[in-house]
Amino acid sequence: MRSGLLLFLFSQVILVASLSRTDKCEWNKTLETDAVSFVTSPGFPWTYRPSQDCTWVITAPKPDQRILVVFNPLFHLYDTDCKHDYVEIYDGGDELSPTIGKFCGRVVPPKFISSGNQLLIKFVTDNEDNGSGFSMKLEGYKTFECSRNFTAPQGVITTPFFPEKYPNYMNCTLTIFAPNMSDIVLEFDRFNMEGNPWQKPVPVCPHDWLDIWDGLPEVGIFIGRYCGKTSPDQVIAYSGILSMTITTDDATAEEGFSANYTIRDKRHSLVDEDAVDKCGGNISLKTDRVNYLTSPGYPLEYLPSQQCIWVIKAPELVQKIRINFNPFFHLEGTGCNHDYVEVYDGGDELSPTLGKFCGVAAPPQITSSSNQLLIKFVTDDENQGFGFSVGYEVFMTGPDCSRNFTAPQGVIETPGFPKKYPNNLDCTFMILASNTSVIEVEFKSFNMQADPTALQGVLCRLDRLDIWDGLPKVGRHLGRYCGQEFPHRVTSHSGILSMTVITDNRVSKEGFSANYAIRKKSLLPDHKRK
Ligand SMILES: *[C@@H]1O[C@H](CO)[C@@H](O)[C@H](O)[C@H]1NC(C)=O
Ligand SMILES: *[C@@H]1O[C@H](CO)[C@@H](O)[C@H](O)[C@H]1NC(C)=O
Ligand SMILES: *[C@@H]1O[C@H](CO)[C@@H](O)[C@H](O)[C@H]1NC(C)=O
Ligand SMILES: *[C@@H]1O[C@H](CO)[C@@H](O)[C@H](O)[C@H]1NC(C)=O
Ligand SMILES: *[C@@H]1O[C@H](CO)[C@@H](O)[C@H](O)[C@H]1NC(C)=O
Ligand SMILES: *[C@@H]1O[C@H](CO)[C@@H](O)[C@H](O)[C@H]1NC(C)=O
Ligand SMILES: *[C@@H]1O[C@H](CO)[C@@H](O)[C@H](O)[C@H]1NC(C)=O
Ligand SMILES: *[C@@H]1O[C@H](CO)[C@@H](O)[C@H](O)[C@H]1NC(C)=O
Ligand SMILES: *[C@@H]1O[C@H](CO)[C@@H](O)[C@H](O)[C@H]1NC(C)=O
Repeated sequence: MRSGLLLFLFSQVILVASLSRTDKCEWNKTLETDAVSFVTSPGFPWTYRPSQDCTWVITAPKPDQRILVVFNPLFHLYDTDCKHDYVEIYDGGDELSPTIGKFCGRVVPPKFISSGNQLLIKFVTDNEDNGSGFSMKLEGYKTFECSRNFTAPQGVITTPFFPEKYPNYMNCTLTIFAPNMSDIVLEFDRFNMEGNPWQKPVPVCPHDWLDIWDGLPEVGIFIGRYCGKTSPDQVIAYSGILSMTITTDDATAEEGFSANYTIRDKRHSLVDEDAVDKCGGNISLKTDRVNYLTSPGYPLEYLPSQQCIWVIKAPELVQKIRINFNPFFHLEGTGCNHDYVEVYDGGDELSPTLGKFCGVAAPPQITSSSNQLLIKFVTDDENQGFGFSVGYEVFMTGPDCSRNFTAPQGVIETPGFPKKYPNNLDCTFMILASNTSVIEVEFKSFNMQADPTALQGVLCRLDRLDIWDGLPKVGRHLGRYCGQEFPHRVTSHSGILSMTVITDNRVSKEGFSANYAIRKKSLLPDHKRK
């Protein structure tokens, strides 16, 4: 329980008893700094009078401040459709302002914050039936300012007062700017913000949360929303900017987080230094690290009349290539007739095209279907743009991590377990037995990147484990898992149990470890055993 509620109820009774002012049907008031104020229906908590028409105008202490309104849980207006008795709140100083809501019955209105520095509250009753009315607490909404920009090559970022509890009403933006659009690697070592005590259903993180973007807030690629004890662990931004916004409500604070970051020079991670600023080339990918190529001159204007062709090749035939464009993307034009970048699914221009891109919207992530990918950049003789930058990397698949298991028992683990699993995995594990066998898998530990903003029916969009009774995508689907939710024990009756592990290129965890055993099917039907 939130102890604030009891305190609120208590202070409420005292106020009603001692102050007649709150009882008046009409007054205008400017809130005092650091003090709360109340508006109540006349007579509260006893029955209100009939035929009332009260109006209150509340003003925040400062012009740039807003007003936080919290209703007392004792709420009763004798009406259900808000025609006769109701309280209506306008988001401004007069009745021309937009209305926030019209409330009646016994459903306590939610707490809210005005969008300006004034609120108008109207209370109307008819000439018959009556209820006990309402009481609302008002206070100036003072956001705790902690916005900061970071430009040093490395640093430590914590919530204010860490490891003491963070303040209420935080609304801060923390942004790391890297020179030359280098990668930013952010690692969290402690994380605890007020979570969702009910776990489900949504909304995720209803009270306090941290949002992270690769790029500027609300504009860049959204990496995720975090609260509770679900740490983002490690986050990599590829656009040269990493931003975080911290939002906290008026109650229950935790110790927050502590993280450190390093700006990693892209040039150091280049296999083929020549790919930067060159117009085309043949690139052999040797490692599973991200490498980059850019339009010549990027992020400054590119030259007219160019045609550059890059062919990227991964060493193993079974590997694929994944590319991610920097959100700062700018090619002149909208119809892609003049300047454009085109991506082909193979080593030459006869291969199928995966898209032709121009304008200012960066293309989506693209994965080739073989170990070669061609990027073609064409410009006409006028109106230049600032070009593009694209990160490319091996998308691991096949023998890199896939395995078949036929021994009567064994251990299945994510690559490198218990160290963090690699990014960009696409592995298949299959346990193959005869169709007269039962396969049992028991998970000992499980932790994969969670998908905190998952939608209904679209779970685990980032990293995930899928399990089938039978061949992958063919057999009966036994489940999809990520975060710290895992199946503990699964059983296959078809003689094959398969698992696929998919991971993205950002956050990685230690993965899972499971034991399996193959045993002969019992002669008795399943439900009669035991
Ligand atoms: C409150 O302010 C409004 C305009 O802001 C004014 O019309 C009204 O008369 C005032 N009421 C009182 C009781 O001062
Ligand atoms: C309304 O209030 C009056 C006096 O305060 C009381 O006598 C009456 O019973 C109330 N009616 C209802 C429906 O509560
Ligand atoms: C951080 O940088 C951005 C962009 O340059 C600027 O708009 C913002 O005011 C800066 N914030 C702080 C706290 O210095
Ligand atoms: C938080 O700050 C942002 C940007 O300054 C602003 O748009 C937003 O309305 C603020 N939110 C609250 C609840 O104050
Ligand atoms: C950015 O790149 C330029 C050109 O490669 C280099 O001269 C400069 O030192 C780099 N700046 C930083 C801060 O690394
Ligand atoms: C954060 O600090 C730890 C311990 O000092 C260090 O091992 C780690 O590399 C740092 N991470 C980053 C991204 O700087
Ligand atoms: C890239 O390889 C192709 C075919 O192997 C060759 O024709 C072409 O000249 C090479 N391009 C460069 C820039 O080396
Ligand atoms: C596992 O077995 C399947 C079916 O026999 C086969 O297609 C696949 O290539 C095998 N995978 C590995 C990694 O050996
Ligand atoms: C099991 O496999 C054998 C051949 O390997 C086949 O003859 C039999 O029909 C299969 N049984 C079932 C239930 O699928």
